[in-house]
Amino acid sequence: MHDDDQAIRILLIGDIVGKTGRRIVKQKLPGLRESLGLDLVIANAENSAAGSGITPKIFSELRAAGVDLMTLGDHAWKRKDNLDVLNNEELCLRPSNYPEVAAGKGWGVVSTESGVQVAHIIVLGRVFMDAVDCPFRAVDSILEQLPDDVRICIVEYHGEATSEKQAAGWYLDGRVTAVVGTHTHVLTADARFLTQGTAYISDLGMTGPYDGVIGREAKPVLHKFLTSMHAPFTVAENNVHMCGVLLTVDPETGKASSIQPMDIAEDGTSPFSHDFLQVPESSE
Ligand SMILES: [Fe+2]
Ligand SMILES: [Fe+2]
Repeated sequence: MHDDDQAIRILLIGDIVGKTGRRIVKQKLPGLRESLGLDLVIANAENSAAGSGITPKIFSELRAAGVDLMTLGDHAWKRKDNLDVLNNEELCLRPSNYPEVAAGKGWGVVSTESGVQVAHIIVLGRVFMDAVDCPFRAVDSILEQLPDDVRICIVEYHGEATSEKQAAGWYLDGRVTAVVGTHTHVLTADARFLTQGTAYISDLGMTGPYDGVIGREAKPVLHKFLTSMHAPFTVAENNVHMCGVLLTVDPETGKASSIQPMDIAEDGTSPFSHDFLQVPESSE
């Protein structure tokens, strides 16, 4: 049985977009660390600098706000600042199935204050994404290298297609603590345990402005769809939410005992997600 006193609580935050995404993290995370008793916070920060990439200054700001480990996805090479962060900061990862020679690292092990070690691996999907090495085999090879005393392992699957992410979930079921998706900027309503005990969600969603198209102003995106002509995609600003999941994990077994979606609105209004229809008993 899971012992709640020992359990560690890991908050996984979906793609932080632009200055409003950073703002909500800075506003809410210090309080959440306290109120939820968080032991570790991991965030995808690939869109944190004006919608694309990260900078050393933003890395430091997010660290100061309480993010322990950051990841970058397919935006990893879109600004030179990213290289400065990847070359200098162990606590920022890029997808592990990029070529070995690429800057940065694709996985790492971080320790909670109480000394529990947690491995985090990020891989890039291959459906509707850049051509990269096989993400499944990339995870296999990292798992072989993980020291035996690292029992908690989270795999972040950064990809467009839910089918590919679900396949990765089944591939890793029973072998890792959790498989969580990032990249689509939409929090999916499928948080669950797979049959061998791995916690799973197809996407952690976005931490940023929701009155737009996955974080960009709708107008230029619509212009592109309607005319095929490109216009600069400016980052949206309104209706800011912080999304992700809270994982509760037994450090002895490395198994998660809960995976709870998180959707917090900056202005305190209700979340978008998981307000599911309650079916009255008489209609069952
Ligand atoms: Fe991405
Ligand atoms: Fe993203």
